[in-house]
Amino acid sequence: MPALVLLGAQWGDEGKGKATDLLGGSVDYVVRYQGGNNAGHTVVVGDQKYALHLLPSGILSPGCTPVIGNGVVVDPSVLLSELSGLNERGVDTSKLLISGNAHVITPYNVTVDKVTERFLGKRKIGTTGRGIGPTYADKINRVGIRVQDLYDESILQQKVEAALDVKNQLLTKLYNRRAIAVDQVVEELLGYAEQIKPFVADTVLVLNQALEDDKVVLFEGGQGTLLDIDHGTYPFVTSSNPTAGGACTGAGVGPTKINRVIGILKAYTTRVGSGPFPTELFDEDGEALRRIGGERGVTTGRDRRCGWFDAVIARYATRVNGLTDFFLTKLDVLTGWDQIPVCVAYEIDGKRVEELPYSQTDFHHAKPVYEMLPGWSEDISKAKSFSDLPKNAQAYVKALEEMSGAPISAIGVGPGRDETIEINSFI
Ligand code: GDP
Ligand code: IMO
Ligand code: MG
Repeated sequence: MPALVLLGAQWGDEGKGKATDLLGGSVDYVVRYQGGNNAGHTVVVGDQKYALHLLPSGILSPGCTPVIGNGVVVDPSVLLSELSGLNERGVDTSKLLISGNAHVITPYNVTVDKVTERFLGKRKIGTTGRGIGPTYADKINRVGIRVQDLYDESILQQKVEAALDVKNQLLTKLYNRRAIAVDQVVEELLGYAEQIKPFVADTVLVLNQALEDDKVVLFEGGQGTLLDIDHGTYPFVTSSNPTAGGACTGAGVGPTKINRVIGILKAYTTRVGSGPFPTELFDEDGEALRRIGGERGVTTGRDRRCGWFDAVIARYATRVNGLTDFFLTKLDVLTGWDQIPVCVAYEIDGKRVEELPYSQTDFHHAKPVYEMLPGWSEDISKAKSFSDLPKNAQAYVKALEEMSGAPISAIGVGPGRDETIEINSFI
């Protein structure tokens, strides 16, 4: 069972960091395949808490080689500060590999992200302001800078010039900002080059050879299915493909190599930034989920929008990713409610709809149809097996599994590595 994909089944922050870290002890490689430092993954090991943004969560497992694949966008300053932060805490990061084909988030792309959002005003996406969208736009427009370009000064100079030719027009004439000097950007990027060099590798070759040698490779998605540029709630999405197919393009591994796709699914729903969210709560229950679940963004510190579990979305995630399993997280957060509403379908313009509508307009009009499930009041954080859970918690999990279309193979009952109930083994 050598290649697994692990990804978010909702709008991100499902607990991917914890799930990846948990599997990290049994895998040889953990690979990020898309996104960049817009991600915020929390990993709790004993009494230590780590917040990872760009680095794969496998970096905390000593036997595991962390890989940043070609599909990721890399901000070199963030990379270096994340590495030194971990080194200071005694984490060995020397095994890290970075694809030479990964694109670089340049300082001007961070600027463009921020000014574009400001310009959009109330139509803004609510991005993390890390330069993610503009960097992917440059990649698609074929004016991107890649990690390998840092090692050819004259190519780097030409490419930065080409990119800034257009951007400086926009910055000065449309956004009323100062132009950015080519030399300054080149100098800054070259300043990172030597420190990053030891990590740069042909990661496609490394990963395919590892799979041939029967090594276990885990592909870790940043973000979630509904934030996918193709399959998410466009335009309120991120600019890459966190869905399972993204692992193939973003790491250079063929789909025939992947044999398990695990969706991380929160026992309720959260979202950060703008965009539709049918089960969003604006009342005390929403406040309680936010408070008990600690629902505050790891990257931007924004409060997360909170709502009940949405089975329509979970079914959709099963379909577009070909999920083989779910890892249900944060079940402990739901302890204490008498009854827990679960969205089983939508009502759109007076009609009941069972599946996620492809039309943006319909999705904006979707109202949740709730089924009430009985709650539980017992503390479940010490549960080690499914049978340790109170009957109503067991029934809640079974109901979610039935509605979502894939088996729930693990359940999170707390943030720590050991606060997990394993039902089926992943590897
Ligand atoms: P990610 O972006 O998907 O990695 O998720 P985040 O780290 O942004 O958010 C998930 C939060 O929930 C983190 O604070 C985790 O420590 C925490 N967490 C993960 N699993 C569980 C769980 O089963 N129960 C509780 N109470 N917290 C969890
Ligand atoms: P993890 O990996 C939640 C959201 C932003 C915004 C939209 C676009 O922790 O699950 P971007 O900066 O990517 O262009 O912003 O996507 N977003 C996330 N929301 N968790 C994340 O990552 C996110 N990464 C991006 O809030 O709505
Ligand atoms: Mg997160």
